[in-house]
Amino acid sequence: MSAAESISFARGAPSLDIIAVDELRAAAARALEQDPAGAFAYGTSAGYPPLVEWIAEKHGLAPENVVATNGSMQADAFLFRHLLEAGDQVVIEAPSYDRTLLSLRDMGADIVPVELESDGIDVEALERTLRDGARPKLAHIIPNFHNPAGCTLALEKRRRLLELADHYDFILFEDDPYVELRFDGEGLPTMLSLDESERVVYASSFSKTVCPGIRVGYLAGPEKTIAAVRRMATNTYISPSMVSQAIVAEFSRSGAIDGSIETVKRALRERRDALAGALERELPDARFVLPEGGYFLWVDLPEGTDGDALFEAAKEQGLVFVKGTDFLLEGGESSLRIAYSGVGTEDIEEGVKRLAAAYAQVGEKSASSV
Ligand SMILES: Cc1ncc(COP(=O)(O)O)c(C=O)c1O
Repeated sequence: MSAAESISFARGAPSLDIIAVDELRAAAARALEQDPAGAFAYGTSAGYPPLVEWIAEKHGLAPENVVATNGSMQADAFLFRHLLEAGDQVVIEAPSYDRTLLSLRDMGADIVPVELESDGIDVEALERTLRDGARPKLAHIIPNFHNPAGCTLALEKRRRLLELADHYDFILFEDDPYVELRFDGEGLPTMLSLDESERVVYASSFSKTVCPGIRVGYLAGPEKTIAAVRRMATNTYISPSMVSQAIVAEFSRSGAIDGSIETVKRALRERRDALAGALERELPDARFVLPEGGYFLWVDLPEGTDGDALFEAAKEQGLVFVKGTDFLLEGGESSLRIAYSGVGTEDIEEGVKRLAAAYAQVGEKSASSV
């Protein structure tokens, strides 16, 4: 593959070459042949029953603890609408997923940012905030291969968060679309599985393991919360896409999903290694935590680096990324998120060269303006 004219480090989506197109086509044919009545009907807002059962079994839950939605963003929106009112406090990680940030802002939530460390949210800072009087209804946590920070929440922090949620009476929203994409180290238990007092509502998605266009995600959690979300879903859209969910059910239950996950992980590990190597070589000023899985790597450049100028200079070179400021209420001017999910290794190498050239250009400009 030759280096593309324009390279995007911006989109948190897989490239087409790592989507199991043929296996999905075959799963779709089987799904529609085996259960046309189920796939072509409205169904209910709970989701396509065989998929809901598969998800429930995977988490050791009953089907009543699961609702399958059109992507996990839809699940998030339902949950926020169910639990939150304007003015309610919500803890978010800083930085956090930009769309979550936007939807909480749109709802008028009182956002309480708590800094991320290389092993997840700073639980001591959170505890101080709570001791000082913060009373969140919800804490939004991305535990694995964080978007945008790439980091993973340590096991002892998962346990501490559960204790804090119990003590200070808030819901932990465990937003976990990347969990299956670990390519280094040992997997950690979900907070959902450690929860003994119905504090956790868990979301995940098939966007990163199957494909984003299928738009299938889900929530798992306490039956009462799930029942309320199901009611809200009925009133919003009657039911999610049964055709999509029937395909995902067949893809998952047949085991084809395991091959798909392996393909994605193999490619992502290669891409992450290419990215880390290129950054070390071409841009030694870059500081980053090497992600153990997932799609993203967060880069901190020396304080004072003008991220807006860097973004413009990179664009001129034919490279786009997302500015750090998009993921924070304040700060992030000298940081950026690189998504390595949608670009092959050759373009990653070329993209980093362009980034380094843009960085040199921005550095020269600011030096000459001193
Ligand atoms: C942390 C996080 N939550 C939710 C989503 C949305 O996923 P879906 O495609 O299932 O709506 C994403 C997608 O990038 C994400 O990174």
